Amino acid sequence: ATGLNSAAKAAGLKYFGSATDNSELTDSAYTAVLDDTNQFGQITPGNTMKWVYTEPSQNSFSYTQGDQIANFAKTNGQLLRCHNLVWYQEAPSWVTSGSWTNASLIAAMQAHITNEVTHYKGQCYAWDVVNEALNDDGTYRQWELYNVIGPAYIPLAFEAAAAADPDVKLYYNDYNIETAGAKATAAQNLVKTIKAYGAKIDGIGLESHFIVGETPSASSQASNMASFTALGVEVAVTELDVRQTLPETSAQDQQQAKDYVSTVQACLQTKNCVGVTVWDFDDKYSWVPSTFSGQGAADLYNSAVQPKPAYTSVLSAL
Ligand code: XIL
Repeated sequence: ATGLNSAAKAAGLKYFGSATDNSELTDSAYTAVLDDTNQFGQITPGNTMKWVYTEPSQNSFSYTQGDQIANFAKTNGQLLRCHNLVWYQEAPSWVTSGSWTNASLIAAMQAHITNEVTHYKGQCYAWDVVNEALNDDGTYRQWELYNVIGPAYIPLAFEAAAAADPDVKLYYNDYNIETAGAKATAAQNLVKTIKAYGAKIDGIGLESHFIVGETPSASSQASNMASFTALGVEVAVTELDVRQTLPETSAQDQQQAKDYVSTVQACLQTKNCVGVTVWDFDDKYSWVPSTFSGQGAADLYNSAVQPKPAYTSVLSAL
């Protein structure tokens, strides 16, 4: 095996993948790594399949940007994780500040899901159907869909996605559910609720946005993964990165390498952990510095597209 994806597949995973975004695809030094299936066998669009991009005004659908990433994956023979259908962020303002009734908002959500899932039918390995619907204490996050529809919006979303494409795997995706605790328990209860409603759920996405030196151990991540797979769903690490306090130091780079390995080992140890996706592979395009002030250098490669210690350690752990 000569790269992350080749090694991951040889070790029994379905893929090792990366997020990307449309503006990055014109950077040839970057795409020369992203399009190499020895390194990356799976692509996730970081933004442009989200609701605000795909239905910027009601019933007006726009897939040009999402298609660009889907076509990149198709051209290179890479799996696509489609991300995401329903999320409180990057939801259009016509959704979040509309005047809705229970019935009209259910209909609008169903129309969005039906249109987008139909558009990408046959192209996605999985859909992140509902993203980040829980608070850290395990309660439901309050936002327009929850406030107007109630918790039923979640099983209704899964039901609509399954009706539009019965073959794609349907995931619930969230952060801070990577170790046992109130939020992980709530996500497990959500799996049961969705199934009890009669809807289908196939997987749980463990985002895994971690901090250098604070990443949970491989065994605590693996035992948590097993709590999900015991419910009859697969799991995937969907957005892995490990951020450091800037400036980047070699001490943090060394710890970061160990932290990345903990998550990769947990997935390898878990039957039905299908793959690992990094939330971009290159520090140049990381979402971290613009989201977490004073933090960054969270990815496997530096801004000059050179592998960091974490790359080497992950490759040898696979
Ligand atoms: C992030 C993107 O990377 C940013 O470019 C954007 O500004 C905000 O969204 N959890 C998710 C992803 O599920 O969709 C988020 O992506 C990161 C957190």
